[in-house]
Amino acid sequence: MLEIVEKLKKEFDAKLAESKSNDEIEAIRIAYLGKKGAVTDVLKSLKDMDAEMKKQVGQQVNVLKDEIEEKLRLQAKKMEEIKYQMAMERAEPFDFSIPSTQEIGSLHPITIVQRQIETIFKSMGFIIEDGLEIQTEYNNFEAVNIPKHHPARDMQDTYYLSNGQLLKTHTSAAQNAIMRKYGAPKPGEPLRVLFPGRCFRNENIDASHENTFFQLEGMMIGDNISISNLIYFMKVLLSEVFERDVKVRLRPGFFPFVEPGFELDINCLICGGKGCSTCKQSGWLELLPCGMIHPNVLTMGGIDPEKYTGFAFGLGLTRLAMMKYGIKDIRVLNSGNLKALKQFK
Ligand code: DAH
Repeated sequence: MLEIVEKLKKEFDAKLAESKSNDEIEAIRIAYLGKKGAVTDVLKSLKDMDAEMKKQVGQQVNVLKDEIEEKLRLQAKKMEEIKYQMAMERAEPFDFSIPSTQEIGSLHPITIVQRQIETIFKSMGFIIEDGLEIQTEYNNFEAVNIPKHHPARDMQDTYYLSNGQLLKTHTSAAQNAIMRKYGAPKPGEPLRVLFPGRCFRNENIDASHENTFFQLEGMMIGDNISISNLIYFMKVLLSEVFERDVKVRLRPGFFPFVEPGFELDINCLICGGKGCSTCKQSGWLELLPCGMIHPNVLTMGGIDPEKYTGFAFGLGLTRLAMMKYGIKDIRVLNSGNLKALKQFK
């Protein structure tokens, strides 16, 4: 019996050495280890042997079985390597220097404007952050001084999730986390952060309203930050983006997270101020709400309002891109219509 095991081993080794494909390896596996395989047969016959024989043969055949499994595995691996090697030899050489004939894609107009503003602000020492799109009610509302049942919540028709969280209605939702992340500014080194992001509100969609839109928010907090800093940064921002002088007007505006708060409007660049559907016939577009950060908001962010002041602004990035490129209908931006979207540089 022991000779049979020895013979099986030799036979197996010879067959495996000749195998040239995965199919052949599989056939060998079945011939030896399959239900009716040669090794399986020996294992089955153990029950008819006497105790001493059973012990000896059993031990040997089990060693052989393990050996066969390992050799099959190694042979399959070797086969893969050979296949790869052959494919590499057959492959055409690739010339990386040949110019592509494929059309190069283009950036979305909102991305272009966002990057442009990021570049301007980075050059003025701002850090770029991004906030989460799914937010807690606390971050989106409470932490920016909009407590439960405050009427300001009604202006932001919110998509709530079944777990009580929500899709952020404005980039201001990141203010608290950013203040906590960076902490109180060092003397002479104000905290300067820019945080663009996608926002969601349950709006009726028309030429100037979308349920998914982009804002770009900024904050500067330090030991001596005033409204004149705010106005300076807003002017730099707008003149750089439009690459010309734009007419602006500043009105008082109410936002619970700033005190005082302002609305910075720009003269509608689509109709030149005459009145059109984009500016709702008023000639002006609300573009840049801003103000001095409310002491409550600083306190909730872990920053002492007795020591520090700061400004914040929340730019309608979608609206700004429409103004810059003369896009009359906001729906184009989320349309995925490449013909319309790829024309911007
Ligand atoms: N979060 C406001 C909104 O979406 C926009 C805003 C207004 C942001 C004034 C600000 C700000 O930082 O100071 O309606």
